[in-house]
Amino acid sequence: MRISSLIPLLLLLPLLAYCEDRQIYIVYFGEHSGEKTFQEIEDAHHSYLFSVKSTQEEARASLIYSYKKSINGFAALLTVDEAAKLSGKDEVVSVIQSNPGKWSLQTTRSWDFVGLEEEAGVGKQRKKGGSFLQQAKYGQDVVVGMLDSGVWPESKSFSDEGMGPIPKSWKGTCQVGAAFNSSHCNRKLIGARYYLKGYEAYYGPLNNTEDYRSPRDHDGHGTHTTSTVGGRVVSNVSAIGGFARGTASGGAPLVRLAIYKVCWPIPGKEKADGNTCMEVDMLAAMDDAIADGVDVLSISIGTTVPIPFTNDGIAIGALHAAKRNVVVACSAGNSGPAPSTSSNLAPWIITVGASSIDRIFTSPVILGNGIKLEGQTVTSYKLKEKKMYPLVYAGDVVVPGTPKNYSGQCLPGYLSPKKAKGKIVLCLRGNGTRVGKGVEVKRAGGAAIILGNSPLNGEEISVDPYFLPGTAVGSSNAITILNYIKNTKQPRATIIPARTLLHTKPAPSMTAFSSRGPNAIEPNILKPDITAPGLNILAAWSESNSPTKLSNDPRIVQYNIISGTSMSCPHVAATAALVKAIHPSWSSAAIRSALMTTAGLQNNMGKPLTDESGNTATPFSYGSGHLRPTKAADPGLVYDASYTDYLLFLCNGGVTNLDPSFKCPKVLPSAHNLNYPSLAISKLNGTLTVTRTVTNVGGSKSLYFGLVKPPPGFSVKISPRILYFSHVGEKKSFKITVKAEEGIAASKGDMKEEYAFGEYTWTDGIHIVRSPMAVSKA
Ligand SMILES: *[C@@H]1O[C@H](CO)[C@@H](O)[C@H](O)[C@H]1NC(C)=O
Ligand SMILES: *[C@@H]1O[C@H](CO)[C@@H](O)[C@H](O)[C@H]1NC(C)=O
Ligand SMILES: *[C@@H]1O[C@H](CO)[C@@H](O)[C@H](O)[C@H]1NC(C)=O
Ligand SMILES: *[C@@H]1O[C@H](CO)[C@@H](O)[C@H](O)[C@H]1NC(C)=O
Ligand SMILES: *[C@@H]1O[C@H](CO)[C@@H](O)[C@H](O)[C@H]1NC(C)=O
Ligand SMILES: *[C@@H]1O[C@H](CO)[C@@H](O)[C@H](O)[C@H]1NC(C)=O
Repeated sequence: MRISSLIPLLLLLPLLAYCEDRQIYIVYFGEHSGEKTFQEIEDAHHSYLFSVKSTQEEARASLIYSYKKSINGFAALLTVDEAAKLSGKDEVVSVIQSNPGKWSLQTTRSWDFVGLEEEAGVGKQRKKGGSFLQQAKYGQDVVVGMLDSGVWPESKSFSDEGMGPIPKSWKGTCQVGAAFNSSHCNRKLIGARYYLKGYEAYYGPLNNTEDYRSPRDHDGHGTHTTSTVGGRVVSNVSAIGGFARGTASGGAPLVRLAIYKVCWPIPGKEKADGNTCMEVDMLAAMDDAIADGVDVLSISIGTTVPIPFTNDGIAIGALHAAKRNVVVACSAGNSGPAPSTSSNLAPWIITVGASSIDRIFTSPVILGNGIKLEGQTVTSYKLKEKKMYPLVYAGDVVVPGTPKNYSGQCLPGYLSPKKAKGKIVLCLRGNGTRVGKGVEVKRAGGAAIILGNSPLNGEEISVDPYFLPGTAVGSSNAITILNYIKNTKQPRATIIPARTLLHTKPAPSMTAFSSRGPNAIEPNILKPDITAPGLNILAAWSESNSPTKLSNDPRIVQYNIISGTSMSCPHVAATAALVKAIHPSWSSAAIRSALMTTAGLQNNMGKPLTDESGNTATPFSYGSGHLRPTKAADPGLVYDASYTDYLLFLCNGGVTNLDPSFKCPKVLPSAHNLNYPSLAISKLNGTLTVTRTVTNVGGSKSLYFGLVKPPPGFSVKISPRILYFSHVGEKKSFKITVKAEEGIAASKGDMKEEYAFGEYTWTDGIHIVRSPMAVSKA
C-alpha cells in the first residue's frame, strides 16, 4: 500500500521538474565582438544552450529567440541550474530571468487602486509651430518605430496620400498575417512586424478571437499612440458623442511609421483589465527596429516596480539603440502620485510624465439644495432635462455580504438592484476600472453614475464613455456630495449633459497618475525627464475593440479619448523626430538635451506648474518641465553623451563586460558625472563638485552667462560663470559645486529622504538652457 502510492509520485517528479522549473531567461552577451554572420552567431548561441542541455534537439526546442543584429544574446527556456551554469561562462554578461507579467502598456489599464491609472492618447493641441514643422518637413525623412499593440491600418490617420517615396535607408519589412497583407503597409506605415514567440512560450497559443496573429491592432492602444506620433491631419473627427470635435493630427504628420507589435491580451482577462508585453519579444523587436533603420523608438510600456538597468529588457534594448543614435522615448508609468514610482529609469532613455491639456468636458452635478458642482464626462447618454433624481451613495445600496471597505466602489455584483433602481449612484474610485463601475450601476438599474475621486486622485478627471448617463467629480466635490447625502432627508440631483470647453485654466497641470521620482534604481539621475499631454487625449482607435475595451460594449469608434503616460510618450517621440529632421547629425543625447533644457515651467496663467491637488509640482513629476516643441529645435547649447559615457556609467553599477572593446577604468566616475541635462544628488554629505560639458549648437560667436537658483538648504556655485564659444560644435566644461548648509536638517530623521529643488541656467540673452536639480542631505 505504502509502496504503491509512492511509485506514481516518484514517476511524476522528473516530469514536474521539466514542466514547471523551466523559466524564460535572457542570456546576454552585450555587443557583438566582430564581423560574424547571423548563422555563426546563431550557431554560437546554440552551442551555449547545448552545453547545458542533454541533446541538440532539446537545445533547439528551448530556444525562443536568437538576438543577433545589434543585441548579442538569446532567450530560452532554462531551469535554474542551467541558467546558473550559463552565467558562469566566459563572455556571458548576464543571465536575466525574464519575469512575464512585469511589463504592460501604460494605458487604459484602468486599475485605480492606489492611483494606478489609465493612460491617455492622442489629440494634442496644435501648437503654433508652423515654421518649426515646415523646417522639419513635418518629419517626412524620419522613421519612428512603435513598440505597442499593433496598428489599425485603415484609419484615415495612416493614409499615405501625397507622401513621397520611402526613405532609401529603410530596411524593414511588412510582415503579413491575420487580416494583414502587404497592401496594409504604405508610404506612411512603412514597416510592420509582430512578436509572439515569448508570449506563446509562456501563455500558450494565442487565442485567435482575442487578437490577430499579425501587426493588426485588436486593442486600440497601439493605433492611438501611433497616430499621436505621426497621424495625418484629419479634419472633423471626434470621440463618440461628438466630444473633442476638431482636427486630429500626429505631432509629426509626415513622419514614417514602423509597427512592432509586442503587447498581447492576457488569456482569460478583459482587455479593459490589462495586457502583457513580454520582455523577450520586446528585445527581439528592438533588435529588428535598430537594424531596420528607425530613428526614434516610442515605447509606452513599463512596469509598476522599478527594475535595475541590467535586468530590464527595455533598458538593454535602448542602450543598443543609443549606440546607433536612435532616440528612445518611454512612458514613466501610471503609478503616481506616490514617490519613487517612475519606471524606465536608465539615463539613455527619455522618460516621460503626463500632464493635462487646456480642454475639459464639463458636465456639472446639481444637488437638490441648488449647489452646482463641476464634473466631467464624455458619455453620450443624458438624464431627462430638468428632472431631479433620487441620489444615493453606493455604500448605502449594496447587497448583504459586501466587504465594508469596498462597499462604495461599485465593484461587480455589489449593488442591490432593489435599492439602486432609478437612482443616481455615487461610486468612489479605488479598486476596479472606472468604466466597470458604470457597468455595475447600469446592471443594478441605476439612472446614472457619479464617479468620485479618492483623495489620491485629487481633482484631476480622466473621462470615460460610460454606457449610461453620468459624470465624474474631483475628490473635494465627492466629499461635498457624500456630506449632502448624509445630511439630507431626500437627497436629489441631476447631471447637466457634457460640453467640450477649450482654453481652460490652469493648464497644463501634472496628473495624479503620472509616476514620480526620485529614481528608485539610481537616485543620482533625475527621472522622469519631461512631461507632455497625457490626460484625455483624442486619437485613432482600433475598430476591433470598443472605446471602453469592455467586451460587452458593442460600440465601434474611429477615434477615442484615453489617458496615461502612454499618451504623453508619443508626443515626445514625435517632437524628437522633428528635431532629428532639422538636425540629422545630432546624437540621441543631444536631442534629449534639446527637449529637456527648453521645457517650460509655467502654466497658461503664467504660474508655476501645479499637481492634481493644486499644489506646486516638482521636478520629480515634470522633470525638466513641459514639452515645448517649437523651442527644442534651437536650444543654444546641448549636454551631449556618447555610448562610451553610458558604459562608464554602467561600470559604476558593476557592469564591466558589456562591450568586448571597452574596459572599465580602475577609478570609477560617479553617476553624477554622466553629462546629463539635469542633476540629482542623493544624500549629500558636505560638498560635492560635478562636471558638465556643453556643446554650442547656436550662433558661432556666443557668450553664455550662468545663473543659479540653489535648492533651499544648499549653496550652489558654477564655475566658470561665463562661457565663450567661438564656433558651432565647440565644447566647454564647467563645474557645479553643491554644499549642504549646516544647521538645516533636510532629512527629517524618518525613513523618508527629503529633497530640495533648484536649477542652473545658461543664457546668451536669446537661448535659455535650464537644468533642474534635486538634492537631498545625508
Ligand atoms: C489585402 O487585403 C485586402 C482586404 O483587406 C484586399 O483588398 C487586397 O487585395 C489584399 N492585397 C494583397 C496584396 O493580397
Ligand atoms: C478564446 O476567446 C473567446 C472569446 O473571448 C472565448 O470564448 C474562447 O473560450 C477562447 N478560447 C480558448 C481556447 O480559450
Ligand atoms: C463634421 O461631422 C459631423 C458629423 O459627422 C457633421 O454633422 C458636420 O457637418 C461636419 N462638419 C464639417 C465642418 O464638415
Ligand atoms: C479590506 O478589508 C479586508 C478584510 O477586512 C482586508 O483584507 C483588505 O486588506 C482591506 N482592503 C483595504 C484596501 O483596506
Ligand atoms: C482590490 O485590489 C487589490 C489589488 O489589486 C486586490 O488584491 C484585491 O483583491 C481587490 N479587492 C477587491 C474586493 O476586489
Ligand atoms: C559625513 O561626513 C563626515 C566626515 O567625512 C562623517 O564623519 C559623517 O559620519 C558623515 N555623515 C553621514 C550622515 O554620512
